[in-house]
Amino acid sequence: MEISKVGIIGVGTMGLGIAQVCAQAGYPVVAVKATPGSWEKAKKSLENSLNRSVERGKMKPEERDAIVSRLVFSNDERAVADCQLVIESVIENIDTKKDLFKRLESICGPDTLLTTNTSTLSVTAMMAVCKYRERIAGLHFFNPAPVMKLVEIIHAFETSEDAISSLNSFCTKIGKDPVIVQDTTGFIVNRLLTPYMLNAIRMLERGTGTISSIDHAMKSGAGLPMGPFELADYIGLDVVEAMALNIFMDVRHEHHAPPHTLTRLVQLGYLGRKSGKGFYDYSQKPPVQNPSLQRPVV
Ligand code: 3HC
Repeated sequence: MEISKVGIIGVGTMGLGIAQVCAQAGYPVVAVKATPGSWEKAKKSLENSLNRSVERGKMKPEERDAIVSRLVFSNDERAVADCQLVIESVIENIDTKKDLFKRLESICGPDTLLTTNTSTLSVTAMMAVCKYRERIAGLHFFNPAPVMKLVEIIHAFETSEDAISSLNSFCTKIGKDPVIVQDTTGFIVNRLLTPYMLNAIRMLERGTGTISSIDHAMKSGAGLPMGPFELADYIGLDVVEAMALNIFMDVRHEHHAPPHTLTRLVQLGYLGRKSGKGFYDYSQKPPVQNPSLQRPVV
């Protein structure tokens, strides 16, 4: 299947990042806001990201303008009807995604590659509600999408080899470094990364170290760009908790259950960088430990 136009459903952090990557690689992109409200804010945010690249001398102004000209925003899912590839990046809720896949089947032709950027949900479960199942797959990008090279291509139960091969070539064309993974909860990266972050939180709860000493140790001793708490805050604590719960529901082992501290922070609306506070308080420069974590979490 020759891909000449890409549709993105969902213009949150990941959807926008993926739209940017595809437009940057020369593809016309239609980006659909999946929730009610104007897409203007999403468009502005993407343009700001491109402007920062221009300001830092990483991109010429004419390249930015060309990227912007390849992007069309819409509130109407039907705008993806003439795309050969659709990537959905809506809220991590299996019923929402299943309903979306059903609607996409009625909007797009039977050959359109319909893919999901889910972190930990079953691609096969989304495929199950579709009639033409061989073109359903996962296309899992990493945050920040314009920077991280990996895309996991998820081979669900009835995905065809042709679909996988088309997605593989597409990922290479957009400058990514794909890996093909069978459809298991968390795939490769999140299946390893989620328990790593949960273990760091349990280590904090046991008093092994502080937030900053554990982060420092993993950066300085294991060569990682971010420590586990910085990473959890960066991904979003609600997302980390949801990933943990999905893996836990699959394997039913307490090792994968979200620790109390994570649940409490999410309950309090401390979702990490995006809400201004998570394990760290980002209102301070440099960020300091969230003062609410000075008391033991029970
Ligand atoms: N959009 C575009 N470019 C960005 C960006 C963004 N949102 N954030 C950073 N960049 C670019 C910068 O422009 C810079 O580019 P340059 O080197 O060409 O100038 C480069 O990335 C480095 O950025 P900074 O110098 O500002 O900051 P750092 O050096 O601290 O790097 C980081 C930031 C790339 C986020 C780095 O800390 C990192 O790699 N962290 C780990 C991220 C990670 O593990 N992501 C995966 C999370 S798991 C996931 O996404 C799965 C999902 O299902 C939850």
